[in-house]
Amino acid sequence: MSRLREARPSRRELLAGGAAAASWIGATCSRRGLPQVDAALPGATGNPTHPPANPIEVALRAQSAEAILDSAGGRGAQVWRFEGKLLVGGPETLLPSTSYLGPTFRVPRGQRIRVHFDNGLQEPSIVHWHGLQVSQENDGHPRFAVGPGTGYDYDFTVENRPGTYWYHPHPDGRTGPQVYAGMAGLFLVVDSDDEARGLPTGEFDLPLVIQDRLLGSDGELVYAPNPMIGFLGDRIFVNGQQTPDLTVKAGSYRLRILNGSNSRIYKLAYSDSSPMTVIASDGGLLGAPVRKPYVVLAPGERIEIWADFGRSPAGGDVWLESRAFSGGGGSMGMGGMMSMGSMGAGSRLPNGAAFRVCRFVVRGTGRTLRLPARFEPLSWRPDDEVVNRGQPRRIDVSMAMMRWMLNGQSFDMTDVAANEKVKLGTTEDWEVRNVGGMMAMPHPIHLHAGQFQVLERVVAPAWQTVAATLQAGLVDEGWKDTFLLLPGETVRLRMRFERHPGLFLYHCHNLEHEDAGMMRNFLIEA
Ligand code: C2O
Ligand code: CU
Repeated sequence: MSRLREARPSRRELLAGGAAAASWIGATCSRRGLPQVDAALPGATGNPTHPPANPIEVALRAQSAEAILDSAGGRGAQVWRFEGKLLVGGPETLLPSTSYLGPTFRVPRGQRIRVHFDNGLQEPSIVHWHGLQVSQENDGHPRFAVGPGTGYDYDFTVENRPGTYWYHPHPDGRTGPQVYAGMAGLFLVVDSDDEARGLPTGEFDLPLVIQDRLLGSDGELVYAPNPMIGFLGDRIFVNGQQTPDLTVKAGSYRLRILNGSNSRIYKLAYSDSSPMTVIASDGGLLGAPVRKPYVVLAPGERIEIWADFGRSPAGGDVWLESRAFSGGGGSMGMGGMMSMGSMGAGSRLPNGAAFRVCRFVVRGTGRTLRLPARFEPLSWRPDDEVVNRGQPRRIDVSMAMMRWMLNGQSFDMTDVAANEKVKLGTTEDWEVRNVGGMMAMPHPIHLHAGQFQVLERVVAPAWQTVAATLQAGLVDEGWKDTFLLLPGETVRLRMRFERHPGLFLYHCHNLEHEDAGMMRNFLIEA
């Protein structure tokens, strides 16, 4: 029996904006012993001093498996997951997962790694190392997707700054359902300096992968995207477990948070309203910690929070919650219209609704550290290096025929427009504009091939009230590979095309938007 249920519009239905009939996908799979789903990913241990001279080698297989998602019912659900096996390397470099998520890579900067991907699904797939600066052959572009029963070999050196990156599939048109089915994992780039930086390490370095899911009455995953809004589930999972209690010790933690959801935006805050202390974003540590009343995390983005548990007046437990905001796709009349009918299955918890994410339950005592005043300074690219200074390359978000587009075009496997060519070894300013009228919604925009800095955000007057419900939680202080483009907003960013020539992607990381074509190539010419 195939059990992952999927209600997906065909391209024709999508164009017509109509509802889709439910269909079934997924491989037949016999029911075996159900794996336990732990509250947290395995603790991060081991701090390799120097990258080993030999490449790390990992076998990574995508295949269907079972996991308990409905913990109340205790029933198994079919998922698709990455199974990892360390072939060469120290055991600290690949931490197994006990949930539907893939294993966590923990790789020193400068380390060469080989990954042998093996596609055990019934459909094409390919793996993208989100945020890592790698050659085009290693970037998981959909043109490299491999069919069932075949594989793809990766071989690259980790060039990025230490930080929280991740990996997920990237086939054309099927990224949303594959990530939703469970295919995602963390890729941590590490060095041996975190102790010296005064950061919490070991069990106090705690990754949190946040995702939303929708379960049928049989406990199985249901994938029912809305062509305009994307997919929204009504249950929140952290590290593969629904709204868990996470046991922590009184003391300091480094929380590495990934929004691994398809379309949901989180406005994260503590239930006791203490501020969030941000120490890192997509591309690693900030120059110095910053305090925010809440932090906004869009699909694909990562953030690292310094948390001191056991400090509140009662010294007790605290919830991580997502607060209400507007403009999540349910504003200006659009959400009402779009959420009607059978496509609105996920809209019981609209984007912008308030809910709880997880609870930190304080038991025992750890170590309270002093928050460092600063980290290594960031080497921002200077103005005089920018080849198109004052005339940024412009990317407009638009919509036509019920589809989102970039500069009026949707994805084509190899097409590159005249304004999508850049030169290797140059630095450019880009301006991304989301000013397409009343139907605007937020879009998490992601660039492959490196990290950029966000220079400026300007919100059109008509959208300022909406933007004000999120602005204080945007973290533009560090290196980024994904940023949330608010409705009515224009964002200017700066990026250097430093190392690798070739064909790379920029796209919306709302995975349903991406799958419907809100993605384009850009060419880095040598
Ligand atoms: Cu995380 Cu091109 O994607
Ligand atoms: Cu989008």
